[in-house]
Amino acid sequence: MKKLSFLVTAGPTREFIDPFRFISNPSSGKMGYEIAYAAYEKGFEVLLISGPVNMAVADKNIKVIPVVSAVQMRDAVLQNIHRFDVLIMAAAVSDYRPHQYNENKIKKSDASITIILDKNPDILNEVNKSGYSGIKVGFAAETENLTDYALDKLHRKKLNLIVANDISKQGAGFESETNAVSIFSDTHNRVDIPLAPKREIAVFLIDYIVEYIRRNKKVV
Ligand code: CTP
Repeated sequence: MKKLSFLVTAGPTREFIDPFRFISNPSSGKMGYEIAYAAYEKGFEVLLISGPVNMAVADKNIKVIPVVSAVQMRDAVLQNIHRFDVLIMAAAVSDYRPHQYNENKIKKSDASITIILDKNPDILNEVNKSGYSGIKVGFAAETENLTDYALDKLHRKKLNLIVANDISKQGAGFESETNAVSIFSDTHNRVDIPLAPKREIAVFLIDYIVEYIRRNKKVV
């Protein structure tokens, strides 16, 4: 098999309301950064597209494109994806952005205010529309019905693999150093990885993707 290349997204996106305020989520970026590092350590080519995080890449030779918003992340992914065999969407993309951006700080008044939100693009759907034919791996962070929601996303987003984690569990999810995940494939396989450091989960995931490509004779 030829040397694989991986495009990994990580971290949250920020959707600014004014210069001081934004809508986001508590994603630390840790899982995506560990995945990028695990792929790099195995000698694969890696590009990391990252939302704003308080973290540096574990090896400065890993290429990083920093982005802020979901639209910027979408643009960076679509510009680069066709050079990569595998897309891993570990980013926690904000589904909505404020309809209006205020150039100046919104001043406090006694009245309530309403913020209208527009839907952000679904990056995986746009990758599908672009005709990308590589391997697509998504993430599903859920608080209930983990298996059903993950399988629904696997099919809806036309993924090869989905990594599902129950973020309501102790030690799993957003700001944690550890995670516990289940990986579902479009070939009806499931593997459960019990609580482990995110670095170990990342190494397992890269090995699992390589094995998936080999086993299913996917030509990339
Ligand atoms: N994703 C994406 N574009 C978005 C939102 C999510 O590409 N605008 C990707 C994520 O990076 C992840 C997968 O889709 O790999 C599932 O993300 P998630 O937020 O769990 O799914 P949603 O489609 O947003 O569904 P919901 O928020 O209703 O659970």
